[in-house]
Amino acid sequence: MKLWSGRFSKGTDSFVDEFTASLPVDKHLYGQDIKGSIAHASMLAACGIISHEEADRIIEGLQAIKQEIEEGRFQFDVADEDIHMAIERVLTERIGATGGKLHTARSRNDQIALDMRMFLKDAIIDLGIEVMGLQLEFINISQREIRTIMPGYTHLQRAQPILFSHHMMAYFWMMRRDFTRLKGCFKRADIMPLGAAALAGTTYPIDTKHVAKELGFEKVSNNSIDAVSDRDFVIEFQAAASMLMMHLSRLAEELVLWSSTEFSFIELDDAYTTGSSIMPQKKNADVAELIRGKTGRVYGNLMQMLTMMKGLPLAYNKDMQEDKESMLDTIDTIKSSLVGMKSMISTMKVNSEIMRQAAEGGYTNATELADYLAAKGVPFRDAHRIAGSIVSKAVEEGCWLSDFSLDELQAINPFIEDDIFEALDIEVAVERRNNRGGTATERVQEQIEKAIKLLEKEQEWLEERA
Ligand code: ARG
Repeated sequence: MKLWSGRFSKGTDSFVDEFTASLPVDKHLYGQDIKGSIAHASMLAACGIISHEEADRIIEGLQAIKQEIEEGRFQFDVADEDIHMAIERVLTERIGATGGKLHTARSRNDQIALDMRMFLKDAIIDLGIEVMGLQLEFINISQREIRTIMPGYTHLQRAQPILFSHHMMAYFWMMRRDFTRLKGCFKRADIMPLGAAALAGTTYPIDTKHVAKELGFEKVSNNSIDAVSDRDFVIEFQAAASMLMMHLSRLAEELVLWSSTEFSFIELDDAYTTGSSIMPQKKNADVAELIRGKTGRVYGNLMQMLTMMKGLPLAYNKDMQEDKESMLDTIDTIKSSLVGMKSMISTMKVNSEIMRQAAEGGYTNATELADYLAAKGVPFRDAHRIAGSIVSKAVEEGCWLSDFSLDELQAINPFIEDDIFEALDIEVAVERRNNRGGTATERVQEQIEKAIKLLEKEQEWLEERA
């Protein structure tokens, strides 16, 4: 019999049981649900709404149920509809009528809002640790490869020589923004909604601060209707996760390109690549490709949530039950993508010689030539045109800029002197970009130091909440 069956003259159709149930998904929230119920029961007793003995029996019963679920002994029945009722039914079967007192001053509407917030907060801490792990890996690689030169690209055309470490650190800063976005989500999830009950609040003399404190919530909701209607925290988590996946996907794409025979900038470790069943020579960057591919489902989860919520009148609607599957899917997807990315980049081999050769080729020092002429007093626009014509001559003759003799260069422009060859050196080109945030070694080192300090601070934030 359903816990809400009082008003009904017959049972639900078995199709309806299955269709309306959230149990197959929300059973994953059992830990939060039980923890929340324990805090609620202890508050009810502290406020004199139930007796301390009753609270103790309820809490003992809940703890036993938790253990059974963890040991796989708990019998889930889809007819229970959701995790809240599954637990409450079994509790009442075990401890009798007292079990029915647990739901005093509470509704499943505020209960699920609480569970979702608790679950997301835990997940964000867990994911934050993974994001930090990946950030640390960018730092490790950058330190190891601090002077490795590669061509920097725009439009996927070789543009200017850069340090590979500088390129890796760009991803550090992207992840840094992802981390702070997750922190923002945590803050807005950190609001305790119990006390809203169905939507209007409760007539019982409850103490929501007591519950918030016991469950580690920073704040208590200001409006009971908002408390049960709001899923912004899920949506913004999905948005932050989408951005994070977009970042991982861009790096995944680069790993796919770089590990191709055409680039050969890196070699992915055998443990993180797969073979082809037909072409024996193949070594596929499947992990990278899947991270890129999984980005789509995380974007999809964001769209699903936004669309599901957009037409809902206040307060709770059953539609909102659809908030869980996509949230769990996004959490799992970004977690495994972070783990995969970290393993891949920490084991990849960097072919610094090939990267350097690629930077030497492709006329990535053409800007140096233009800058050189400009420094000698040629207006930059003219300098740019002259450098362009020298590149075109080199392309025609099948040589690099530094292959021309001084005489040949001077014939093109009399401002050119014998210091031109130093200016065309790619190492010099890299080191001259010595403004803040530039690719010079010193500036990359500066970034790394700053990055390490920031990570230390974020580590503290995580530890305080873990
Ligand atoms: N299973 C529901 C959910 O996941 C819990 C809240 C249901 N409340 C209700 N009155 N039907 O959203």
